[in-house]
Amino acid sequence: MNTIQKNDIKDGEVIDLTHEGHGVVKIDNYPIFVPNALIDEKIEYKIIKVKKNFAIGKLMNVKQESKERIEPPCVYYTKCGGCQLQHMSYPAQLAMKKEQVVNLFHRKGDFKETTINDTVGMDNPWRYRNKSQIPVGLSHDKNVKMGFYRQRSHDIIDMDECLIQDDQHQQVMNVVKQLFNDLKVSIYNERSKQGLMRHVVIRTGYHSDDLMIIFVTNGKKFKQAPTIIEKLLKAFPNVTNIKQNINKTHSNVIMGDESITLYGKDKIEDSLSEVTFKISDRSFYQINSAQTEKLYQLAIDYAQLSGDEIVLDTYCGIGTISLSMASQVKHVYGVEVVPEAIADAQQNATLNQLENTTFVCGKAEDTILKWQQEGIQPDVVMVDPPRKGCDESFIQTLLTLTPQKIVYISCNPATQQRDAAMLQEKYKLIEITPVDMFPQTTHVETVALFELK
Ligand SMILES: C[S@@+](CC[C@H](N)C(=O)[O-])C[C@H]1O[C@@H](n2cnc3c(N)ncnc32)[C@H](O)[C@@H]1O
Repeated sequence: MNTIQKNDIKDGEVIDLTHEGHGVVKIDNYPIFVPNALIDEKIEYKIIKVKKNFAIGKLMNVKQESKERIEPPCVYYTKCGGCQLQHMSYPAQLAMKKEQVVNLFHRKGDFKETTINDTVGMDNPWRYRNKSQIPVGLSHDKNVKMGFYRQRSHDIIDMDECLIQDDQHQQVMNVVKQLFNDLKVSIYNERSKQGLMRHVVIRTGYHSDDLMIIFVTNGKKFKQAPTIIEKLLKAFPNVTNIKQNINKTHSNVIMGDESITLYGKDKIEDSLSEVTFKISDRSFYQINSAQTEKLYQLAIDYAQLSGDEIVLDTYCGIGTISLSMASQVKHVYGVEVVPEAIADAQQNATLNQLENTTFVCGKAEDTILKWQQEGIQPDVVMVDPPRKGCDESFIQTLLTLTPQKIVYISCNPATQQRDAAMLQEKYKLIEITPVDMFPQTTHVETVALFELK
């Protein structure tokens, strides 16, 4: 019988970490999850929530610190919901991410023979985000607030720096905030659904110096736009695109369907591993470019290409993987559900003179079946789905297509493990490498190699 009560103050030792980075303490096998506590630490904590199968504790005091505990460098860290692991040394973050994959595949899954490599980390795990989506709001005294949301809320923490964003993004954010205040730009209120400015989205090229600024507004009329554009161009001579995106929906989706170019080019340009890409404002593009180059290289190495392969690149976005591989294979077929992304992929193929590519807009699960019916027999299938993983029918078609190799990139190892369990019928999961695309956060990205049995 569990005698733990809300507000109890307890002592305990942290024996494990959850995938959210919370410390785990146990009392008679009953787990208490304590955010910000690290493995091996002796802590004092207060029970703040009691459930049938677990409780939540609040860290009150660290009585014996882990050697992996560090001082979080960001002043907003304890309030902001953006990062979860700044109190943990970077080597410990990388080890935690590998451990999560080991847990899923070796302990819970049936993949004891699969090699799980160390997490590929960054030399400098800060200021890596090439895209920032910054919510805009008003403080009680009617000053413009821009920053990120408080943990598990939509309350904006006003900040002038974020250590995981590209350096230039905060400079843009601070100038824009001042302009919104000075020019009395109407600010959107999530509760009343009134007001104009909702978000500012900033994108930078990693190898190019392109800088794109997008104002996401609840309506078209943005009368201060000409003055704001003039001031931004003066402050940031490398601005290549200024856009307005109209989002009148009442949902949490940041961008709406309509975009207007207010200044400069329609798309931002960047390159990855010597392939050039034009990217529309709403197309998916990996946010950590330095790690993306490593991720793609690993995926291409796993495919062990000889030059004769037919490759399917499923969930291809703007064709970044397809075009990075195209010069090393016979033909690549890419499929993606977002029409703008496929238009980008087609334009990018022409831009890079990679003619052995075909891009189709559609659902991966439908298109792969069509390709099969057309007699396309792939040697390698690249798979890079969103967090929910693949549709079951997609996996079933893969099992009848039987390519020699499947290279599966995932931003959610739990759904990757679920899909791997289905592929096991005909495929051996040879190797998985976690790649740290999101340092300081609990997100884990992996690339896995499957070979036909
Ligand atoms: C994780 S991203 C990967 C994109 C690309 N491979 C890259 O590295 O930039 C997943 C992509 O899958 C697309 N997507 C989501 N569901 C899909 C589906 N059912 N069929 C095809 N594409 C889908 C999304 O629009 C997104 O571009």
